[in-house]
Amino acid sequence: MIAGRLPCLLIALLCSSGPAHAAGSPEVAQARRLWAQSPHGAMLERILPPAIEAGQLPEPQSQGARLVARYCVQCHHLPSPHMHTAARWQPVVERMLWRMQGKGNLGALMKDMMAQVEAPPDADVATLSAYLRRHAQREIDAKHPALQTRAGQMFSLACSQCHALPDPQRHTAREWPGVVKRMQGHMAWANTIVGVRELRTEPELDTAQILRLLQHYARR
Ligand code: HEC
Ligand code: HEC
Repeated sequence: MIAGRLPCLLIALLCSSGPAHAAGSPEVAQARRLWAQSPHGAMLERILPPAIEAGQLPEPQSQGARLVARYCVQCHHLPSPHMHTAARWQPVVERMLWRMQGKGNLGALMKDMMAQVEAPPDADVATLSAYLRRHAQREIDAKHPALQTRAGQMFSLACSQCHALPDPQRHTAREWPGVVKRMQGHMAWANTIVGVRELRTEPELDTAQILRLLQHYARR
């Protein structure tokens, strides 16, 4: 063990107070209280990076968005519907429901928190799933010419670690830099929050080539 408990905690605190972060909402405040109480809080806080706030969900006033903001921040940061493809959301939602019902191999931990965790009724599950599918990520075609290049290989390795490999057409050349920058932040978060500097992946990923590739094949 290179770092003691305190530095780990400090890193977690620093990283989770970044600017684009949902600390303001009551749901997240609630999750934070649970994380603070549970000996497994640090693990739960690390599951998803703090990326968006409830108000930044697509169609924030819709029933689907409300349900995500209500049920999906009980254990970790708010997930974005854009993160996964429709096909991938299906098993993820099933797994999450199972957990909300207190089942699974993390059962003991979840049971520990169950007093606070609420599972949605079936009608809400349908609305929630339909919402996630409607705003899902679109995966790149496996035969896309972008993937034949060297930069394409890097893109494929780097950008499929947390979700399906995105379709470059999803964004315009002007939009991609902001998205890639946010992803760099998520990657750094995934690396730093688990611990000490010595353990981080080196060399750091150079996203310039990936960005050029995405822009080349971007939506016009
Ligand atoms: C009872 C606690 C709990 C609730 C509530 C919960 N999750 Fe999770 N979630 C977890 C745990 C534990 C993990 C990490 C293990 C795993 O991936 O299954 C996780 C991981 C995730 C991940 C990252 C893993 C992946 O496959 O990308 C996503 C995305 C996610 N949850 C989405 C959701 C959504 C959407 C909801 C609301 C429908 C939700 N979660 C509600 C406990 C929960
Ligand atoms: C460490 C995990 C991680 C890695 C690696 C990662 N992403 Fe993401 N990605 C996320 C998360 C979390 C979200 C949902 C929250 C968000 O949009 O910031 C997301 C969402 C997205 C979206 C949908 C949101 C939007 O604005 O369209 C796109 C596109 C995307 N990522 C592209 C990429 C690209 C390109 C790379 C490689 C440079 C990459 N991702 C690498 C975690 C990751």
